[in-house]
Amino acid sequence: MTIEREAGQPPVWQNDTPEGQAPVLEGQDWAAWPVYDSATLGLRDYWYPVDWVDRFGRKPRPVRILGEDIVLVREGDEIYALHDRCPHRGVPLSHGRRQFPDTVSCAYHGWTFDLKSGNLCAVLTDGPDSPICGKLKVRTYPVAQRLGLVWVYIGAGPVPPVERDIPDELLDNDFAMGGRSDVRNGNWRFAAENGFDEGHAKYLHNTALWRLFKVMPAWNKTRLQQEGPWLVRVQDELHWEADYPGLGVWTNKRWWKRMPLPDRPGKGKRVNKVIDALDIPGFVSIRLPGLLRVAYPQFIHYEWYVPVDEDHVRYVQIMVRFERGLTGVAFKAKYLAGIRWLFHGQFTGQDAWMVDVTDAPPERLYRPDLSITGWRRMVERSKPVVQTRPQRAKAE
Ligand code: FES
Ligand SMILES: [Fe+2]
Repeated sequence: MTIEREAGQPPVWQNDTPEGQAPVLEGQDWAAWPVYDSATLGLRDYWYPVDWVDRFGRKPRPVRILGEDIVLVREGDEIYALHDRCPHRGVPLSHGRRQFPDTVSCAYHGWTFDLKSGNLCAVLTDGPDSPICGKLKVRTYPVAQRLGLVWVYIGAGPVPPVERDIPDELLDNDFAMGGRSDVRNGNWRFAAENGFDEGHAKYLHNTALWRLFKVMPAWNKTRLQQEGPWLVRVQDELHWEADYPGLGVWTNKRWWKRMPLPDRPGKGKRVNKVIDALDIPGFVSIRLPGLLRVAYPQFIHYEWYVPVDEDHVRYVQIMVRFERGLTGVAFKAKYLAGIRWLFHGQFTGQDAWMVDVTDAPPERLYRPDLSITGWRRMVERSKPVVQTRPQRAKAE
């Protein structure tokens, strides 16, 4: 990436341009990332966490993801997902009742659907010989349960295993974890950009209680590095204070704050073995379709940005300690007593506040925003299938 400045003109970020093509200008609107720009409702062909497993019971529960209305119903250990719309008159099936095992019956006229196939298997108000039976079905969605979460696949074609969309370290190791899942205001892309945003943490969060006893840098020099599916922010320079010409010194150093451990996880003294083995070159990484990983020496924070609709995002956060036994139990207690409130509450609440009030484009990016443009470019280059506003299903 280079910066171009014509006499008297503001600087414009310029992308690496394939030979023979006009340069792509970045920095004022999102024209450099047309696919990303159109992905208001998210990316198809991925598994998304929708909520905790224990929040789904026999009673049908509606969930909206990527603008699709889905109803989830438990039968024994299995959870099923169907389009939340009865094809008869369009009433949400999530208002329905459970009359027979493995089925859900619409609240209005008792059309009854098989949970597994979505087939209309009985119409209670039209008798056992109802001629419409077997002629209709509602769309069903693949569902999986992992990490204590229910995952739904939004896409077409062959369904990949859910493991594809879960970080390897969470599949290969034992761990203790705590987490939160809630719906917040704002588009999912603002949430993802905020998560990977280089410039904000050291300023927005320097008032967070989570950082009360730790110094935040004043400014950094950063580059991005691709590591498998992850785009990693790598710090080349960290500056703890700086003298701003004509203004004076600005720093987050205070007598009661201590310097944090090195920015590269695995380089500190007391480092968890699993985290050390991951050998991540930086503190923060992001991957498709919108998962952030923040690796501390002893634990890792993950957050998923699951598009709900244009203006809402489900924000699923987990904090993981790769230990079992007493250490794992102690971590869980520490999570419930402090981390849940301090980090997954007040700290990321500051992010939610900014995501809610962000209004871009237009925008004028600055040097640290290479993190944001790098993420957008990664999405663009992955040639994703963008979710469009779901059409009203005709007779499904
Ligand atoms: S609207 Fe569902 S049964 Fe009539
Ligand atoms: Fe943040």
